[in-house]
Amino acid sequence: MNPFEVKPQKADKIFTGWNKVLVKPYDKNTVDPYTRLRVILMNGTEFESVRCGHAFHRMCPNNDVRRRLAYMRRGEQIQQKRIASLKPANETILEHTIGYEQLAVDLTAALAITEKNSYVKKQLDFALLEDFDHLYRYSDLMELEKGGDPARLVGDYTEIMPGRPTVAEYRHPYDDVDFYINCYLNDLKTKLNINIITAAEQQTMNFYMNVGDLYATNLGRKLYNEIAMIEEQHVTGYGALKDPCMTPFENLLMNEYTECYLYYSCYEDEKDERIKTIWEMHFEEEVAHLHEAADLLKTYEGKVWQQVLPEGGDFPELLKFRPQKEYVREILKSVRLTGVEEGWEELDKVPDSASSPTTPVSTAESPRATAPTCASKSSSANGGRTIASRTKSTR
Ligand SMILES: [Fe+2]
Ligand SMILES: [Fe+2]
Ligand SMILES: [Fe+2]
Repeated sequence: MNPFEVKPQKADKIFTGWNKVLVKPYDKNTVDPYTRLRVILMNGTEFESVRCGHAFHRMCPNNDVRRRLAYMRRGEQIQQKRIASLKPANETILEHTIGYEQLAVDLTAALAITEKNSYVKKQLDFALLEDFDHLYRYSDLMELEKGGDPARLVGDYTEIMPGRPTVAEYRHPYDDVDFYINCYLNDLKTKLNINIITAAEQQTMNFYMNVGDLYATNLGRKLYNEIAMIEEQHVTGYGALKDPCMTPFENLLMNEYTECYLYYSCYEDEKDERIKTIWEMHFEEEVAHLHEAADLLKTYEGKVWQQVLPEGGDFPELLKFRPQKEYVREILKSVRLTGVEEGWEELDKVPDSASSPTTPVSTAESPRATAPTCASKSSSANGGRTIASRTKSTR
């Protein structure tokens, strides 16, 4: 499938009635856990589109561009509302949260397995164990408060057991910042993986930040606030991987391409026929967004979309939700890792004598100092495909 070869529909579907926006929710007792995960994933993807659209809008001095962005963004808003309305009112915050963490585990594992850049894969494997632990801790809360059955919610797909203990997850903020990749040297799947996981983790963090203080019990409020803080670390790590040298127009194109890829993956993977038609409809809408983004790129930067997607636009292997129990068990062997500067190290090997975390990183010694400027586009700090060597002496 190549979305550039699909004829785009007219973009006037944004003017529609509420009866076409808000749809019937799924039944929380019979829904397939992976359908719930797709709903959470695509809701978060739409939040990311709206967020990035506003960020672009606020930095853009051209009102012709800003009008076209506003038009597209209205479409993303409607998509978000349609997807969000699939969540039933009787599904509690904690039940929905179990879905968020099951998504974090099975999505992260699925992306890590297909990831060719070993540095990006390390970040995925590292955060996987922490989200695995979050699934366990929220499940613990649910059992303690007799608020439901977490095992029934995740089905047979995902195991619930301790991962990296939350107490070991807190790091100095400096140790959450990864190197960025060079989008010209990396595989299309790598670029998609980073876009997908950053949006998902950002949504997870925002969800916990919003619902944490709505939770009925003090124990639950504490847990949401504690885990939201770790999600902040995840968003920092994943967001750092994105190539900061891409222009807003290039990023817009890549974001729309990511949405096309995800909706098409959901459409192919979905068993619920009613929800499948929603994924199909949104895919067609995203094709229109993608063509609009390509036109904006050409008009205002004089670039063709093939400069952003030199592979030609064919989707790589689609995202499929499948049980990842064996992979997670394998990754559990690295439970002793922690983040150190832009890399990862066994906790026992991190010297107690490391200098104060408040000491600023010396630009003369930092590997980051060797990174080229964005203008050169020649390589990235991590060389694109290899694990960066760390300069331990900096901190
Ligand atoms: Fe969208
Ligand atoms: Fe996370
Ligand atoms: Fe879109």
